[in-house]
Amino acid sequence: MPGNSLGLLFRVTTFGESHGPLVGVVIDGVPAGLPLSKDDVWLELKLRRPGQYLTSPRRESDEPDIVSGVFNGRTIGSPVTIIIRNRDVVSQYYEDIRFKPRPLHGDLPAYMKYGVDSWDYRGGGRLSARETAARVAAGAVAKKLLCARGVIVVSYLYSVGDVELERTPETVDVALRTRLSPVKCPDPDLEQRILSLLREVQESGDSIGGVVETLVFNVPPGLGDPVFDKLKADLAKAILSIPGCLAFELGEGIRMSKMRGSEIDEAIIVRDGVLRWEKNVQGGIIGGLSTGEIIKFRAYFKPTSSIRKPIRTVDLETYRETTITVKGRHDPCIAVRAVPVVEAMTAIILVDHMMRAGYISTDKLTLQELKNIETYWSLYRKYSPKS
Ligand SMILES: Cc1cc2nc3c(=O)[nH]c(=O)nc-3n(C[C@H](O)[C@H](O)[C@H](O)COP(=O)(O)O)c2cc1C
Repeated sequence: MPGNSLGLLFRVTTFGESHGPLVGVVIDGVPAGLPLSKDDVWLELKLRRPGQYLTSPRRESDEPDIVSGVFNGRTIGSPVTIIIRNRDVVSQYYEDIRFKPRPLHGDLPAYMKYGVDSWDYRGGGRLSARETAARVAAGAVAKKLLCARGVIVVSYLYSVGDVELERTPETVDVALRTRLSPVKCPDPDLEQRILSLLREVQESGDSIGGVVETLVFNVPPGLGDPVFDKLKADLAKAILSIPGCLAFELGEGIRMSKMRGSEIDEAIIVRDGVLRWEKNVQGGIIGGLSTGEIIKFRAYFKPTSSIRKPIRTVDLETYRETTITVKGRHDPCIAVRAVPVVEAMTAIILVDHMMRAGYISTDKLTLQELKNIETYWSLYRKYSPKS
């Protein structure tokens, strides 16, 4: 069954496997007139790129190529296709564990579904996080389009293990500055604590779980279509489709599940003639519809399953229990690498719903939309690493 596309009006289809020649994305529904360069996309891909501090040492430049849908620097209304070549592929590691699946990777479920003859066991194949580079490329286009209405999406690291952020960034600038942090963390003290924790985890050949938090600023009220296309449902599906993500929490959902109604004490108030929610405890979505408050949610990531410590499994050739230690190149904490992926998936869902609700042109961008894009996209550029 097909399962590689997402979205109704802004429709994203990714393709490619970890150890194939490339990964890529076809984006249908990009209106004409959007200025789009390779650098716009590369800017975002660099935030996800392996080979940075304390992430997998797989060296990929992740230089994208826009191979359709753009002419003279602008989109032309036809599908935008972006490819990213896989250059640093080392499949030997996976030959060694071909018949010894990692218990918490997709190896055995894929083997069971597709069979030994039709299963790409190299680096997780299609289930590898390499595919998320294509999502980030699509996310760059989505984020640029959201700028047409001043909507800004920012994800950052909320916690690693027990080390957790205490204060949510309050402004767009403070949130965006996290793009410059090596671990995408908004608090400099916390950043240092996380870095030393990650160093210790990596040196011991282990991995650790973490949480990514996302804020979406300037969202109009009323996005989301009851009952199955509620905004919270579409966001949850998109976020849970990210490899390694095991839970989605809207607003303070987990804390609220342990409280009494009276303790929550949320209120509707009027501020400057506008209806507002005083605490925004439900993260800007109620009844599946955006409220106009900042959207806030958390994505929970498990520890990387491929670790250098012994892992118990079964040898599929002998059906004997055995132990493996995974060599390969792996991230000590998926959550750190996942930050731009969460941001991209959020933008993809938001732009689709903005189009459905008529907030962003679907055929050709207006002059006002183009002006807004120039203004707001410059914020992302301002807070982007230089290399
Ligand atoms: C950006 C990113 C990087 C990842 N890096 C690794 C990695 O280096 N090693 C690994 O075993 N899993 C890694 N994962 C997680 C696996 O891809 C994931 O656990 C696997 O596909 C099984 O899917 P599930 O955890 O969603 O069930 C990464 C995930 C993301 C989003």
